[in-house]
Amino acid sequence: MTRIFSGVKPTGHLTLGNYLGAMRRWVETDQHRADGLFCVVDLHALTVAHDPARVRRLSRQTATLLLAAGLDPELCTVFVQSHVDEHTRLSYLLECTASDGELRRMIQYKEKSALAVRSGESVRLSLLTYPVLMAADILVYGTDEVPVGDDQAQHVELTRDLAVRFNQRYGHTFTVPKAVHPGVAARVMDLQDPTSKMGKSHRSGAGIVYLLDDPDQVRRKIMRAVTDSGTGVVHDREAGPGVTNLLEILAACSGGNPEELAGVYESYGALKRDTADAVVELLRPVRERHAELAADAGYVDDVLRKGAERAGGLARPRVDAAYAAIGLLPR
Ligand code: TYM
Repeated sequence: MTRIFSGVKPTGHLTLGNYLGAMRRWVETDQHRADGLFCVVDLHALTVAHDPARVRRLSRQTATLLLAAGLDPELCTVFVQSHVDEHTRLSYLLECTASDGELRRMIQYKEKSALAVRSGESVRLSLLTYPVLMAADILVYGTDEVPVGDDQAQHVELTRDLAVRFNQRYGHTFTVPKAVHPGVAARVMDLQDPTSKMGKSHRSGAGIVYLLDDPDQVRRKIMRAVTDSGTGVVHDREAGPGVTNLLEILAACSGGNPEELAGVYESYGALKRDTADAVVELLRPVRERHAELAADAGYVDDVLRKGAERAGGLARPRVDAAYAAIGLLPR
């Protein structure tokens, strides 16, 4: 059976970008057709300045939202990264496989380290090694497919390189995984700044639709989305990034095609109204189910405990094999 792994960082409230770029596919397709492991990657949240209480709170909220969005613990495994020690055990071996140069070339490292410097913070070493831990998350399960938004493509490419290199040096140990991206909305852009990604840790919330926003907030944000002067309703990321983003969101919500939808609308207003309606309807059941689940912390804890037990059992033999292959004396 195909093995799928994907993760989400508890660094902020989950956004429409997380949902359309990744989570929706996990829920609608992946958990039904494959052995899916879906992980709240909390260790990754420690790579930038963080507040411990907030990370803890967001980890629970993120797990709750994954279940609210429709991940079913009967069909897949939902767990928290730090509950399975094998991720960090393997990460060290992969640090001994990766080079300093290839990590410094990662786009997200360049962006996030520049941001830390601008805010007067030091750059944590773990920010540089972040993609190695991500590779460990993936390789430790013998993963075949990694469904992610396209901002993660470079990290999955590095994961593949590390798997191939490790296998060549020490004998076949890891499956070489591939990234899978959605056809539309693989990169949902900020509604106020449609040339940058809608990200949960973005400075202002005005351009970000959060999964837990109420319908009025969703409508307000979409109706105030920046559009492009004089382009009309066209699907063209260069010439009309704002309108294109709305078309992609609407297409992803309604199952349509963004180019065809561009021909349907004459005004930005009508496009925004329909997009807002579609997003409100998409998120309504998630928000409602989240409210139910949030009142039942025992259930969420139980899912996470069982998930970590299963994940740990899957991961251990592969890490043991990697330890042996790389030359460490068995215990
Ligand atoms: P994270 O937490 O930033 O995002 C989780 C998932 O949501 C996708 N995503 C988006 N897709 C489309 N448009 C957007 N605006 C948008 N914003 C986020 C991301 O591509 C991702 O699929 N490094 C990862 C977490 C991670 C991981 C892993 C993922 C750690 N280990 C192993 C897969 C496999 C990250 O920062 O995702």
